[in-house]
Amino acid sequence: MSDEQAEELPAGVERRTFDGRERLSTRGEPVYGEPVDSDGWRAWDAGRSKLGAMLELDMDTGLVGGETVLYLGAASGTTVSHVADFAGPTYAVEFAPRPVRDLVGVAEDRDNLFPLLKDARDPESYAHVVESGIDCLVMDVATRGQATVAVRNRQFLADDGRLLMAVKARSEDVTADPDDVFDDVLDELESAYEILETGRLDRFHADHLGIVARPE
Ligand SMILES: C[S@@+](CC[C@H](N)C(=O)[O-])C[C@H]1O[C@@H](n2cnc3c(N)ncnc32)[C@H](O)[C@@H]1O
Repeated sequence: MSDEQAEELPAGVERRTFDGRERLSTRGEPVYGEPVDSDGWRAWDAGRSKLGAMLELDMDTGLVGGETVLYLGAASGTTVSHVADFAGPTYAVEFAPRPVRDLVGVAEDRDNLFPLLKDARDPESYAHVVESGIDCLVMDVATRGQATVAVRNRQFLADDGRLLMAVKARSEDVTADPDDVFDDVLDELESAYEILETGRLDRFHADHLGIVARPE
């Protein structure tokens, strides 16, 4: 794809050269041993990040930089740290206490990153903390019922907001054909969202689908 056709990266995300290879990067404190250049830009490893893979694969995420973000499935902060580097207020939900301890450390270097030890299946438990009219809902929970979680959390999104979601087929059903799993997930999502784009992330993450959608 020529440069003219490539989707624009959000402000605060750049392609820079690390060890002779051009890679996505954001500017901030390092988190997971990623290389950092002399200007303080750190490589964003798409092999460890579904959102990074969606950007590398040139999906039209609609991200421009500076948006408010609700991130579900933050784990220890690999991807959400990059998001907080270029976004505005970033609420990071994770229900496993161990990774949240690391996530709190990541947030110490980022005053716009707010870790929440909460279950994404129960949005009412954090509705009093997360502002409404969020610009972007990012989801990477890799658990059964991924579409249900997206539908339940639709309430936080602005009408012109975006859902950026990674679906792991094996989390829904280890034996099913991934394409059948993705069809079921998309069917359920369509009760609350209009699907704008889908793309397999297999170059970076086997049997994962990237989805861009907006509230219906
Ligand atoms: C694939 S990992 C996320 C990796 C992370 N997004 C990244 O790129 O750095 C999925 C995470 O979702 C979390 N998770 C699964 N179900 C959840 C739920 N219902 N509520 C909150 N977190 C959940 C898991 O504990 C796990 O840490």
